[in-house]
Amino acid sequence: MKIAIVGLGYVGLPLSLQFARSGVTVLGLDIDPAKVEALNGGRSYIKHIPADTIAAAVDSGALVASTDFSRVQEAEAVIICVPTPLNKNREPDISFITETGKAIAPHLAKGTLVVLESTTYPGTTDEDLREVLEAGSSLKAGVDFHLAFSPEREDPGNAQSKVEAIPKVIGGYTPACLERTKALYGRAIKTLVPVSSCRAAEATKLLENIFRSVNIALVNELKLVYGAMDIDIWEVIQAARTKPFGFMAFSPGPGLGGHCIPIDPFYLTWKAREYGQHTRFIELAGEVNTAMPQYVVNRTAEALNALRKPMNGSRVLVLGLAYKPNVDDDRESPSYILMDLLKARGAEVAYFDPYVPVIRMTREHSHWAGTCSVSWNRETLQGFDAVIIATNHQAVNYQELADWVSCIVDTRNAMAGLRTKPHQVWKA
Ligand SMILES: NC(=O)c1ccc[n+]([C@@H]2O[C@H](COP(=O)([O-])OP(=O)(O)OC[C@H]3O[C@@H](n4cnc5c(N)ncnc54)[C@H](O)[C@@H]3O)[C@@H](O)[C@H]2O)c1
Repeated sequence: MKIAIVGLGYVGLPLSLQFARSGVTVLGLDIDPAKVEALNGGRSYIKHIPADTIAAAVDSGALVASTDFSRVQEAEAVIICVPTPLNKNREPDISFITETGKAIAPHLAKGTLVVLESTTYPGTTDEDLREVLEAGSSLKAGVDFHLAFSPEREDPGNAQSKVEAIPKVIGGYTPACLERTKALYGRAIKTLVPVSSCRAAEATKLLENIFRSVNIALVNELKLVYGAMDIDIWEVIQAARTKPFGFMAFSPGPGLGGHCIPIDPFYLTWKAREYGQHTRFIELAGEVNTAMPQYVVNRTAEALNALRKPMNGSRVLVLGLAYKPNVDDDRESPSYILMDLLKARGAEVAYFDPYVPVIRMTREHSHWAGTCSVSWNRETLQGFDAVIIATNHQAVNYQELADWVSCIVDTRNAMAGLRTKPHQVWKA
C-alpha cells in the first residue's frame, strides 16, 4: 500500500514514520523544500524525532519526501496535516487546508481516500475541503473518492506517547468512507474510535483542546486567589491529585503556548456564531490565560522591588523559550509576551533555552529574530538581576540557578525541593 502524507511537521512526520514502520510506503509531501531535502537525506528537523529513525525509513524505501504534489496520483490515500492558525483578527485561517485541496485535486485518482487531520471547526471536511476537492477534480466525494476526518493526538516531548498506542478517532463522509478509513489506520494504529461523521470527529478534537484550555485557566485563576491567601497552588494540586476519581491535575503557568490550546478553541467560537451560539467558557478561559504573562511580569517587578531595584534598567533572563518542557517548539510561546512586556517596562531582556539556540524569523515576533540564547555558566547567570522560569526543561540544572542567581521568579514550581535562600524564589 502506498499513501501520501501532506505537511511533514510535528504531526505529519511522526505519522509518516509510524505508517512506514507498519509496512506502508509513504510519500511525504511538503511545500518546504528544506524539510523534503532533510528527510531524503535521513536528517531530522524536530528535536524529539531521532535522525536514525528517519534514515532507517528512507533507506528501506518506506519513506520518500517530495514537493511534487502531482505525485498524489501514486497514492491510495492522502492524509493532510497542514497548519490551522488564526489570522490577525483571531479568526480561523483554513487557507493551508484549501490550498492543499487545490494542489492535490487535479491529481486525485478515482477511489482515493482523503483524510484531514488538521484541527479545525466542524464542517471543514464535508464543506470547505470537499468543495475544493470536487471542484478541482470533477470527482464526487462519497461516490468517486472517499473523504474523512481524523484528529491528531500528538503529545510532543512525551517519550511515553507512541503514535500507534494513541486511540484514533475517525469520522467518514459516508459509511463507506468510514470503512476505508478504518482499513487505512488499522494498519498502523492499535485502537480506532469510529464516530458517526466528520463533524463529530472534528468536534471531538475541539472538546479535548477546550477542556485543557478551560482547566488551565481554572488553576491559573486559583493560583492568584490562593496566592493572595498565602496558600501554595502547587501544594494544593499535589494533594488534590491523590483523589482516585473525579479529579484531573492541571498545572498553572505563565500563559498558554503551542500550536493547539491557545488557538483551536477559537475555531469553535468563530463557527458557533454562524449558529447564533456563544462560547462563554472559551472566551473566559482565553481572558484568564492571556492575563498570565502580565501577572508574571508584575510579580517580577515586586521581586526586584524587594531588592530595591526598579524594573527599568534591570537585567532579566527568561528561562525557556519553548512553550513546554523538553521540546524545541516556540510557537505561540508566552515567553515572547513576557519578553515584550519586560522590555516595554525598560528591562534589559535575554533568554536561555538549550533547544532554541537562536530565534528564527516569524511574523509575530520578528523583532526578536536573530537573538541568541545566552550560555549557561556562573558568570553569565550572575549578571542577571532576575531570572523568570517560564519553561521547566529537564536538562536545566536548577540547583546551579539557585546557587548563582539572587532573584528567581518561578512559574513552573521548578525550584521545589532545592536548596534556596529565604526570599530568593518568587512563585508566579
Ligand atoms: N503539534 C501538535 O502537537 C499537534 C497536535 C494535535 C494536532 N495538531 C494539528 O495538526 C496540524 C498540523 O500541526 P503541526 O504542529 O504538524 O504543524 P507544523 O507547522 O509543524 O507542520 C505543518 C507542515 O505543513 C507544511 N505545509 C504548510 N502549508 C502546506 C501546504 N499548502 N502543502 C503542504 N505542506 C504544507 C509546513 O511546511 C509544515 O512542514 C494543525 O492543524 C494542528 O492544530 C498539532
